[in-house]
Amino acid sequence: MKVGVLISGRGSNLQSLMDACATPGFPAEIAIVISNKADAAGLDIARAAKIPARVISHSDYPTRESFDAALDAALREAGAEFICSAGFMRILSDGFVEKWRDRQLNIHPSLLPAFKGLHVHRRVLEAGCRVTGCTVHFVRAAMDEGPIVAQAAVAVHPGDTEETLAARVLEAEHKLYPLALRFVAEGRTRIVEERVLIDGELASTQSILPVPPL
Ligand code: GAR
Repeated sequence: MKVGVLISGRGSNLQSLMDACATPGFPAEIAIVISNKADAAGLDIARAAKIPARVISHSDYPTRESFDAALDAALREAGAEFICSAGFMRILSDGFVEKWRDRQLNIHPSLLPAFKGLHVHRRVLEAGCRVTGCTVHFVRAAMDEGPIVAQAAVAVHPGDTEETLAARVLEAEHKLYPLALRFVAEGRTRIVEERVLIDGELASTQSILPVPPL
């Protein structure tokens, strides 16, 4: 399956997808990386691996729809059949989302539907959560919403800062995204009533934290 990866920044999830795609027998390859920001470090990661990388800057387009049309054209031109958003921090128009319906995944650093949006780890700490995590889901029109493919739970430690927590969740993200992409690319997922079945079941694709004894 030929995948277009959308990024806006650092690109560590892009790297984890690239590493997965480079393993023998992985059922997906990255056809193009597109960033809406010219200075995204992820562009260099792609270029170093000789993966076509393009900048489509949202500030060059007068409307969300015209930006999305350019994005769509670039993806199709590259032969992409599927999209992985990996730290892509733009809201996509309903038209774009519909065109790529069930053919676009996103990763978010929380256990959705909790903590959609920005500053997730700060809000998790403020709320006093003991457990957080990350989610890979199919993209729908509403931000950080859509059928969940896989989740990983991550412990919040006493004394965690936004940075230490983000780093622990990111480690889980780097394992989860390739796993979720593999399930989808192998054709093992089916969306029924907005829930993702894997091999026909609501499979447990989570890593579950052990609960300590009392
Ligand atoms: C990741 O933590 C990803 O989950 C998050 O942005 C970061 C990108 O890092 N995405 C969102 O918050 C989407 N709502 P990366 O550029 O190193 O992959």
